[in-house]
Amino acid sequence: MKHIPVLLDAVINALGDIRGKRIVDCTFGAGGYTRAFLDAGAHVVAFDRDPNVAADAESIKKEYGNMFRFISETFSHLIDLDETFDAIVFDLGISSMQIDVASRGFSFRFDAPLDMRMSETGMTAAELIETKSPDELARILRDYGDVKKANVLARAFKDATPKTTFELRDLIFNPNDIAPVFQALRIAVNDEMGELERALAGVPARLNIGGKCICVTFHSIEDRIVKNTFRAWTTAPGDARLPAIRPAPFELIRAQTPTETELNTNPRARSAHMRGVVKSY
Ligand SMILES: C[S@@+](CC[C@H](N)C(=O)[O-])C[C@H]1O[C@@H](n2cnc3c(N)ncnc32)[C@H](O)[C@@H]1O
Repeated sequence: MKHIPVLLDAVINALGDIRGKRIVDCTFGAGGYTRAFLDAGAHVVAFDRDPNVAADAESIKKEYGNMFRFISETFSHLIDLDETFDAIVFDLGISSMQIDVASRGFSFRFDAPLDMRMSETGMTAAELIETKSPDELARILRDYGDVKKANVLARAFKDATPKTTFELRDLIFNPNDIAPVFQALRIAVNDEMGELERALAGVPARLNIGGKCICVTFHSIEDRIVKNTFRAWTTAPGDARLPAIRPAPFELIRAQTPTETELNTNPRARSAHMRGVVKSY
């Protein structure tokens, strides 16, 4: 299935006039956001940890030349860039291409090795199940999937050590838990929350004054990390009971969720939230 970008219009609106501006697209994916930024006249540096997006990045490079640069790395490497930008954008989670390629093991709809690694390096989901203790595994299922009988399932996974998506799926007795279990393991395999926290910590130093950070999230924990980080940046430093010594370093941009029309045309938009901030000084 083709990847349809989520909340792209809202992101473009929030960014305003980006002609001649320099933008980091932290999650290149199918290049939907990147293309929209380039077409609006911005220069784009894009990250993606998935080596399979290289061909798309290559063809955008051919089309847009020096206006585009691709970095095949996790976006927590943002801090290593020796430059500042007018906007840093995250469209988090997984792409339709990742979920739809059976062999990558992200989907319970196809039988495949239990892999789930976006970067195609590090520990697979099968290895994670083997390596984690039952308690750690239960915590992953609870925290990232809100799975109810997490302890029982974690124990079943440890006993059976599933090696394929279907072996895992067949151990999940409540069908409502299948998608949440797959989501929870994917988040843990890719350390998605750790990546987000590390990347956000690098954002203030990489933004120009007036620069914006926009995040589109798909999971409640992801959204909470973004919301709490932005709240801290938009709170004036010092003791809340005393007059502020100086204003907060960032201001909030109005949060957005998908419109009815977008929800009807793109099922991936279901749990999406857009949040943003602009750097004041
Ligand atoms: C939802 S898709 C982005 C879609 C993109 N905005 C578009 O319009 O085509 C998310 C992408 O982010 C990448 N990704 C997720 N976490 C990442 C990380 N920590 N570092 C770099 N890329 C990451 C995934 O590999 C995936 O390709």
